[in-house]
Formats: sequence, C-alpha cells, structure tokens
Amino acid sequence: MQFPQRKKRKLWKFDFFSIRLQRDALWRPFSGIIGVIAMFQKWGKKKALKDIEQQIDRNNLPRHVGIIMDGNGRWAKKRGLPRNAGHKAGAQNLKTITEYAVTLGIPYITAYAFSTENWKRPKAEVDALMELLLEYLRDKDQLAGNDVRILVVGDRSALSEEINREIDAIEEYTKDRKGTVLYLAINYGGRQEIVRAMRAIGEEIKNGERMPEEITEDLISSQIYTAFSPDADLIIRPSGEERLSNFLLWQSAYSEFWFSKINWPDFTTKDFAQAILDYQNRNRRFGGV
Ligand code: FPP
Repeated sequence: MQFPQRKKRKLWKFDFFSIRLQRDALWRPFSGIIGVIAMFQKWGKKKALKDIEQQIDRNNLPRHVGIIMDGNGRWAKKRGLPRNAGHKAGAQNLKTITEYAVTLGIPYITAYAFSTENWKRPKAEVDALMELLLEYLRDKDQLAGNDVRILVVGDRSALSEEINREIDAIEEYTKDRKGTVLYLAINYGGRQEIVRAMRAIGEEIKNGERMPEEITEDLISSQIYTAFSPDADLIIRPSGEERLSNFLLWQSAYSEFWFSKINWPDFTTKDFAQAILDYQNRNRRFGGV
C-alpha cells in the first residue's frame, strides 16, 4: 500500500518583488525555545510542590477540609468567557484537588457547590449550575481509582427529581469506598442546617422522647448533615473574599481559615499543599493557652 507523500513545505518563497520567509520557518527556532521554557516551568512547579510536600507532617493532617470554590466568574471574565465556563473549570478543578487530597490522606472534604442564596443568581446561571451538577453526579466513575465516597449535604427538597435521583445513585454507587469522603454541599446553608437540626430535636421533645435539658452540643452535632465526621479543621476560600458566606457555621467553631487571591479554577495542588502546611504551622489553642 502506498502512503500519500507528505507535502514538502517550502521554507523560502520567491516572488518577483521580494524574498519572503514563510511563517513556520520563522517560528521554528522560537518554538524550540518556548518548549524548553515550558519544560523548565513544569519542572519548577513540580519541584516547588515536592518541597512543600516534604515539609508536611502526615501525622498532623486536617481531618476535615472545607472549600469555598469562589472566583469562577472572575476567572471566566478575565479570559473573555461566559461565567458558566468558569463554573465548568471550577468543577473540573474540584476533581483535581480531591484526587490530590486522597493522596495526602485527608479523610473528609466539604465543597460548597451551590448555596441556599445562589438561587438569587440569574435563571440562566442557576440552570447552567444545575446542569453541571447533574453532569458531575452522572459521572459515576469519576475519582473511582481514588476511592472517593460522595455524599450530598443540603436541602434536597428544592432540587429537581432528576438531580435527586442522581444523588441517590452516586451515594449508593460509592458507599463502600473507604478513602476520602467528599461532601458536596448543594442548596446548602449553615443556618438552614442548624434550623433543620433544631426542628428534629424539637420534634423529639414534643413527642416526649427528650427533655429540653438534654440538648447539648453533642446532640446538635449528631443532627447536622456532617454528623459522622469531625468539625472542619481547615476552611479554604480562594479569590480574595474573606468571609464564610453561610458555610459550615456549626462545624467551623474552631476552624483555621486560609484565604488567597487565586480564583478557584487556578487553585493548584501546590496551593492546596501550601494551605495544609500553613495550617500545620498555626497554633491551635481551642480557647486554652
Ligand atoms: C462562586 O463563584 C462559586 C459558586 C457559586 C459555586 C461553585 C460551583 C462550581 C465550582 C461548579 C459546580 C460544582 C460542581 C461540583 C459540579 P462565583 O460565580 O461567585 O465567582 P465570582 O465571585 O468570580 O463571580
């Protein structure tokens, strides 16, 4: 069989008035240099990550890390893209960071995907976020190799039947995975979570199953969405905003906070490792001296 001959590109083109250097001939020496620079940059980034990792104490990792995935809109705007492109990149980055957290051995991550206040956004953006969530939940084998169990926290009653079905399916599908638990906070609000817990306890009191004096911190902790995991040790919020925005209000009583100006889609494994290292260098006193 004869393969078609590759057309030989002329490096020089002669025309009557001038001798012109063709574009690829002009760029060829530069593309080599650019390639070498990119290689060095990649190597530098890898080395920087390794340097941080070597300083991380594997016996003092945060057990529960909360992440406010902020700055997707700004990330997109900077690139002249629609906001939804930023959310898409943000969702992809959650996979990258979760996979990395598993390799470090972080047992619990809670990611703020949609707050009870996010319904105030334009309908087109809410619809796009719901579509993205649906896609994310449908991707059953995502993170499979990394042993990630996915659980959803938040008020599911306002979510579509389709999303509820996919939540049930992914929770069931990943239920035996023993690695990191990823709590996806969807239609989640810290205040709503506390109200829900108090209603459940109030109901028990009304039915005569409990006395009001039995209400303790432990009892409330047992009624919140993340009842089976420790309080958040570390809360990460990128994008330059420094507030909690109704995230993990009960669980953050003694959390350490880590803020940075990086937009969430640009937040790298190196940034995550740095946040862990900074957390380990904090002096947590829990009210003591
Ligand atoms: C804030 O960025 C982020 C959100 C409202 C939700 C985060 C959602 C995702 C990362 C995508 C959905 C998640 C999954 C897991 C499918 P912003 O829009 O407020 O950014 P801005 O402050 O720059 O405008």
